[in-house]
Amino acid sequence: MKNTGHYCSSSTFIIMFIHLVINIVVSPYLTNVAVEGFDPVIQLSYSGSNITQSISKPVFSVVDYGAIGDGLHNDTKAFLKAWEIACSLPGSAKVVFPFGKTFLVHPVDVTGPCRSNITLKILGTIVAPQDPLAWNDLNLHKWFYFHGVNNLTVDGGGRINGMGHEWWAKSCKINHTNPCRPAPTALTFHRCKNLKVRKLMLLNGQQMHMAFTSCIRVVASDLKVFAPAFSPNTDGIHISATRGVEVKDSVIRTGDDCISIVRNSSQIKIRNISCGPGHGISIGSLGKSDAWEKVENIHVYGAYLYNTDNGVRIKTWQGGKGFASNITFKNVVMENVSNPIIIDQYYCDSQYPCDNQTSAVKVKNISFIDIQGTSATEEAIKFSCSDASPCKGLHLENVFLASFMGGNTRSYCWQAHGSTRGSVYPPSCLSSTNDFIRQKVWLEPNPAIDSI
Ligand SMILES: *[C@@H]1O[C@H](CO)[C@@H](O)[C@H](O)[C@H]1NC(C)=O
Ligand SMILES: *[C@@H]1O[C@H](CO)[C@@H](O)[C@H](O)[C@H]1NC(C)=O
Ligand SMILES: *[C@@H]1O[C@H](CO)[C@@H](O)[C@H](O)[C@H]1NC(C)=O
Ligand SMILES: *[C@@H]1O[C@H](CO)[C@@H](O)[C@H](O)[C@H]1NC(C)=O
Ligand SMILES: *[C@@H]1O[C@H](CO)[C@@H](O)[C@H](O)[C@H]1NC(C)=O
Ligand SMILES: *[C@@H]1O[C@H](CO)[C@@H](O)[C@H](O)[C@H]1NC(C)=O
Ligand SMILES: *[C@@H]1O[C@H](CO)[C@@H](O)[C@H](O)[C@H]1NC(C)=O
Ligand SMILES: *[C@@H]1O[C@H](CO)[C@@H](O)[C@H](O)[C@H]1NC(C)=O
Ligand SMILES: *[C@@H]1O[C@H](CO)[C@@H](O)[C@H](O)[C@H]1NC(C)=O
Ligand SMILES: *[C@@H]1O[C@H](CO)[C@@H](O)[C@H](O)[C@H]1NC(C)=O
Ligand SMILES: *[C@@H]1O[C@H](CO)[C@@H](O)[C@H](O)[C@H]1NC(C)=O
Repeated sequence: MKNTGHYCSSSTFIIMFIHLVINIVVSPYLTNVAVEGFDPVIQLSYSGSNITQSISKPVFSVVDYGAIGDGLHNDTKAFLKAWEIACSLPGSAKVVFPFGKTFLVHPVDVTGPCRSNITLKILGTIVAPQDPLAWNDLNLHKWFYFHGVNNLTVDGGGRINGMGHEWWAKSCKINHTNPCRPAPTALTFHRCKNLKVRKLMLLNGQQMHMAFTSCIRVVASDLKVFAPAFSPNTDGIHISATRGVEVKDSVIRTGDDCISIVRNSSQIKIRNISCGPGHGISIGSLGKSDAWEKVENIHVYGAYLYNTDNGVRIKTWQGGKGFASNITFKNVVMENVSNPIIIDQYYCDSQYPCDNQTSAVKVKNISFIDIQGTSATEEAIKFSCSDASPCKGLHLENVFLASFMGGNTRSYCWQAHGSTRGSVYPPSCLSSTNDFIRQKVWLEPNPAIDSI
């Protein structure tokens, strides 16, 4: 509870408050909520009559609701019980997975809204069932699934392990004789508002590690997301139909996109991210099956990509409508990245070839500024835009992408219009829309780049 701004005698307040706690919070649960379900001390600090500090949040440890934490017993029910009580309280509450234990959690739907603001503290480790058969009759897309929970904070420094190995082995991308079937996203937040996810390690997702779908206002920070380079479709953070996201101060090393942004998402800021191995930072794929999509106001400021397949990428299928616009990639350092800067409007992640169509998601106003490092391939800049709707307003500024192996790098342009500023290497091949003199400035030696 926050300082309400009221002034009253502190002793009266304490008595009133304790009363309130006992009546509203404790009594309905006295039978099954031990008093240790609360922080040991109810803390009030005050100076004179100015109450400045809030009461500690009630704490519900899954262990108090029957979780064993040995990694073998099914701790799902204990978690759901602790959650249910926390969710029903006024004010705010904490649900805790304690340190030093491993909790086996089966596929679980956690549904809001809650009366309280919940902080889910993951101090220990949460693991998924190893065997895909545990999903027998369940939705194959979900493991830990939050739906409609607002003002949720998830943190604690612990780990969430999707135990994905058996799922990967069953993937049609690993073994083409396997049927192509879905696999769970480890952690999904659907229809959330005001979510914070921070200080967590996500490991070996069955497929994507964390997805925000149809959310508003999300901050994801201080995350470590790790899965082997060969693990299929294990995107680090997936943002879909979500508005207002900040992802920062995180390290993501997986087998697929570091961060992927799709479906009507906007106002996304990505800062201080380290990616690789994996497929880099991707906008898209957009426009699959003729979808209408609008992805805009995306700003990546500060990223380091190492040994990734792509650096910064926009990919759209043939067909589809809508826009990818107002997108900036700035202050990006690449090391041995196969396609450092790429726009691909002929994306086709399919067993069958994709025919060219007469429409495409429009790509416009995309800036690449202060991008430096090395390319694993000769083609360091690739703008492969659609005949139906050429890319417009592409902008390159202070770009230097040398070859990792030595030798020259080059740019590829198809239907790509835009401008350059400052020095750009490899030289730009953009055609300037308004017949401005195209700048092809070769780089003067620059001390910041000489060290690469
Ligand atoms: C109450 O305490 C807070 C924090 O110490 C301080 O910022 C605020 O000015 C105080 N208000 C009054 C009315 O004393
Ligand atoms: C694990 O517990 C949850 C919640 O009680 C239950 O729905 C699920 O069926 C259990 N799974 C197994 C394999 O026991
Ligand atoms: C719950 O969180 C929201 C924003 O995340 C905040 O505005 C609100 O004051 C919080 N409510 C309580 C009871 O802490
Ligand atoms: C969640 O935050 C919003 C404002 O950001 C607030 O309107 C709502 O009441 C909060 N929910 C709770 C349970 O505090
Ligand atoms: C692919 O799967 C088939 C059938 O499940 C199996 O017989 C084969 O050994 C697998 N191949 C590889 C390379 O794992
Ligand atoms: C960037 O993120 C890393 C964690 O990946 C963190 O250690 C570092 O302090 C962050 N840098 C800044 C300037 O915040
Ligand atoms: C994006 O939003 C538009 C308009 O609100 C809607 O028609 C379209 O279906 C949405 N696209 C996707 C992929 O959700
Ligand atoms: C593009 O992004 C900038 C910076 O976030 C914002 O100020 C501007 O309004 C956006 N422009 C459009 C057309 O959305
Ligand atoms: C293009 O995007 C930049 C930021 O990415 C923004 O500041 C600018 O307003 C946009 N221009 C147009 C014409 O939308
Ligand atoms: C550089 O990238 C290429 C292509 O991904 C890879 O084969 C090679 O091992 C990488 N080199 C180093 C030193 O990591
Ligand atoms: C689609 O169009 C591109 C660019 O014009 C061309 O290079 C490619 O061969 C075409 N693909 C098919 C399948 O027609």
